[in-house]
Amino acid sequence: MSDPKIIDGKAFAQDLRARVAGAVKALAEGGLVPGLAVVLVGENPASQVYVRNKAKQTAECFMRSFEHKLPDTTGQAELLALVAKLNADPAVHGILVQLPLPKQIDPQAVIDAIDPAKDVDGFHVINAGKLATGGRGLVPCTPLGCLMLIKSRVGELSGKRAIVLGRSNIVGKPMAQLLLAEDCTVTIAHSKTRDLPAECRRAEIVVAAVGRAEMVRGDWIAPGAVVIDVGINRVPTPDGKTRLVGDVAFAEAYPHAGAITPVPGGVGPMTIAVLLRNTVVAACRSHALAVPGFLD
Ligand code: GUN
Repeated sequence: MSDPKIIDGKAFAQDLRARVAGAVKALAEGGLVPGLAVVLVGENPASQVYVRNKAKQTAECFMRSFEHKLPDTTGQAELLALVAKLNADPAVHGILVQLPLPKQIDPQAVIDAIDPAKDVDGFHVINAGKLATGGRGLVPCTPLGCLMLIKSRVGELSGKRAIVLGRSNIVGKPMAQLLLAEDCTVTIAHSKTRDLPAECRRAEIVVAAVGRAEMVRGDWIAPGAVVIDVGINRVPTPDGKTRLVGDVAFAEAYPHAGAITPVPGGVGPMTIAVLLRNTVVAACRSHALAVPGFLD
């Protein structure tokens, strides 16, 4: 029997991928095969694992996967030329340039060069602006995945007090925008926030995205709060090995929470599933087709 308090992101992501695959099959009958281009510059081992998983899951959803692996010495002009080529390629509906990039390349210049309609990461300023102003753009994958997990446990988000710990452009800020769009009352906390435990204790929804191992303690969590842990931190164990922990001290928070994501197996698996979903959304919009409602 699975524990009903634990939000199983792995199972949710699997279900989302099945829905994506269903949408892709329906589109293929009309001759449209969504395509995702992933660009990896250099040899970062974590990025290589990510990119391999993306390619595998893209193929499993019957989509086209275009992989571009460039050497660590690639210059910015060369990468921008590849992005321009992918922007112009009608078989490519989504473009993802894996971050981090080598130091000679300005990541913002690369993000700015991606066609916003193909920006399945949702990092382009046009998409960030649309999210902030209630427009219909592409939304960053990890926060959208978090919202899906929250919605699976919180019936009515309107009026709920939510706190987002962290204000990055990739997670914290878009997460806060998404919760605001659902009519939550949103607090964005960060390293300068005074009395973070007290701020946290007021929240019915807690999203932790600070990148600090087990920073959120059990007594910060209000009874029954829904806790979403975006952190993935590797910490040493007494036997000289390492283990993955989130930004939330899980064992402490668990008794207080109404529902909580584990690490691993919570938010992590959602990111690629939402990326595939975003690629289908981009493909539909590029052909002026309605996006199937079951992808939300
Ligand atoms: N590196 C780690 N996560 C991500 C992501 O979601 N998108 C991109 N582009 N790079 C990443």
